[in-house]
Amino acid sequence: MTVATQTPALEMRDIRKQYPGVLALADVSLMVKPGEVHALLGENGAGKSTLMKILAGAQSKDSGTIDLFGQSVQIDSPQKAMELGISIIYQEFNLVPYLSVGENIYLGREPRAKLPGFVDFRKLYTDAQAVIDKLGVKIDARAPVHTLSIAQQQMVEIAKATSRKARIIVMDEPSATLTDHELHSLFSLIRQLKSEGVSIIYISHRLEEVFEICDRATIMRDGNWVATEEVTNLNREDIIRLMVGRELKDAIPKVAAQQGKPALTVKNLNRTGVLHDISFTVNQGEILGLAGLVGAGRTETARAIFGADPLTSGSIEIFGVPVTVRSPQDAIRQGIGLVTEDRKQQGLVLNMVVRENNTLANLGSLSSFGFVRRKEEREVAEKYRKDLSIKTPSIEQTVQNLSGGNQQKVVLAKWLFTGSKIMIFDEPTRGIDVGAKSEIYKLMNELAAQGVAIIMISSELPEILGMSDRILVMHEGRISGELLRADATQEKIMHLATGGE
Ligand SMILES: Nc1ncnc2c1ncn2[C@@H]1O[C@H](COP(=O)(O)OP(=O)(O)OP(=O)(O)O)[C@@H](O)[C@H]1O
Ligand SMILES: [Mg+2]
Repeated sequence: MTVATQTPALEMRDIRKQYPGVLALADVSLMVKPGEVHALLGENGAGKSTLMKILAGAQSKDSGTIDLFGQSVQIDSPQKAMELGISIIYQEFNLVPYLSVGENIYLGREPRAKLPGFVDFRKLYTDAQAVIDKLGVKIDARAPVHTLSIAQQQMVEIAKATSRKARIIVMDEPSATLTDHELHSLFSLIRQLKSEGVSIIYISHRLEEVFEICDRATIMRDGNWVATEEVTNLNREDIIRLMVGRELKDAIPKVAAQQGKPALTVKNLNRTGVLHDISFTVNQGEILGLAGLVGAGRTETARAIFGADPLTSGSIEIFGVPVTVRSPQDAIRQGIGLVTEDRKQQGLVLNMVVRENNTLANLGSLSSFGFVRRKEEREVAEKYRKDLSIKTPSIEQTVQNLSGGNQQKVVLAKWLFTGSKIMIFDEPTRGIDVGAKSEIYKLMNELAAQGVAIIMISSELPEILGMSDRILVMHEGRISGELLRADATQEKIMHLATGGE
């Protein structure tokens, strides 16, 4: 008996890509069916984004072939990919902030008015609104993009893709900046696209999402194809083993450190409309978890302590001494470090090399008479490269050329090197693969053991529960409750995070 086989929507075969010093893709194949959600999984630096950039015409391949619906295609530019019905949504969106939603959707292909050279705005907005409405999201086509939330901007990217009749949509870590609620809107959108026969390639480091939304998964390791399997035939351990090539034990290896004196005390921090009477203390050696929904004011609290945003009122004490923190420079001088969640905007200088980024925040400790001691600087950078297993051909690589997760590790290294006595980590493992996560937790344990006071902001409850000695939950700019490690549960945190008493 013969079984009719469906022509794949996409077939990438034997794709190879060499960058100077890095074989990003050795030999990767990927087959995606029409109307399926296909997960693309692998550790940081495995080559996922590179493979997708090749599909989207943003990078060239050295060899290999691509078939779309059974036809061999040459994708030599983003324009060509678009014409072929391939759309990619990068983590850094490609929207123009000061243009409206509608203008962004039709950028470069605006409907023409009768008068030559003029855009038919009425048609543009009617069409744009129709595309948005069809996706079932509430966004005004006339709103300027910069007024939208990250989640809404992502919806605009999807609207842009569907307006171009995309048949394949790539989402590279779409969930990293979304709240739970927004994630569910994204999932229902994905289900709708799928029912219309659109194929989705979904990249994420959060395996729960893979089980929830994906049909099949392809796993990559070090630029090689490892496996392609129905998601129902896989469990979490299978995926991790295929990704890292070994078993991973205790992913969250908490070691409680000896706690010392209060390191940081904040009293009644207020920032009009944002923060209300935030008061707490964190001790030497303690990891204080800051939980809450996105937008609850956790990042704002961190920024206020770090002197990045002005306070309306409130006071800060470091080791019992009142201090004034007017700027991040002040904060660093007082021994406070902040690892930001947004590596692109705040953490890194993308066109500098790994070594320079590592030592940027504390060059003073490596300088004599205004000269940087290069040998020591190199040793420091090599140490962090090893400790955090930063995947880079050398410490002289430009940070821009690192994979997303490896850039995040460079941000961490930079702050670890400042030797701060008080460290604030804002979503420290976002975009970090499952294997590297435990390396970061181990480092946090070590810092705590050395007496560093740690504040860890995280939206991942297992991480909060696993690593914190004590947990503060925030809701609408206030602290809504405090839980000790022994009493904390996911349910109690969620209850406080949603405004419960
Ligand atoms: N433009 C570039 N120049 C040099 N090397 C690059 C460039 N882009 C990527 N690489 C390297 O290619 C490898 C694969 O990177 P890629 O971004 O595809 O990884 P990834 O699987 O998407 O990882 P992550 O989960 O961290 O996003 C990495 O070692 C990376 O440093
Ligand atoms: Mg990537």
